Amino acid sequence: MELTPALTLASPGTDQFSPARLLRTARLFASDPALPSLVDPDDEEARWVELDSSPEIQIWLLSWPAGTHNDWHDHGESVGAFQVISGTLLEQTSRNHRREFRTLIAGEGRSFEQNHLHHLANVRAGTALSVHVYAPRLTTTTRYEITPTGLQSVAADKAELDW
Ligand SMILES: [Fe+2]
Repeated sequence: MELTPALTLASPGTDQFSPARLLRTARLFASDPALPSLVDPDDEEARWVELDSSPEIQIWLLSWPAGTHNDWHDHGESVGAFQVISGTLLEQTSRNHRREFRTLIAGEGRSFEQNHLHHLANVRAGTALSVHVYAPRLTTTTRYEITPTGLQSVAADKAELDW
């Protein structure tokens, strides 16, 4: 008798993820009450834990102690979503050389299309936790710096260095 493999996130037919579907996935994972136990609450550096991964989708838990942030970055060819579990994250984006700010508190999230550039920071006291979902999985990201003429790419990294 041939055994049917269990359905997983990597099963055929689950390789197309819209941003809205990714946000639903992020919310589903973020509802796991065990997630805070996966990170050290006394850590002073931002950390990430891979919760699930396949070529089609990648799911990370990120912890953001107060004052931590990442660099401006894109997500290569991936679309994505993130959901704040606890604390507050400040997302910066840039539109027509004007920076836009979006504050996301626990229970809030957002999704984004390809070519989304942003900067995330925990600007409040206490550690923030968030779940981030990318499809397909991140391979490379590009970092950017703010210059007088706008955001300029400065380096392409392996995806683990930026989120
Ligand atoms: Fe990101």
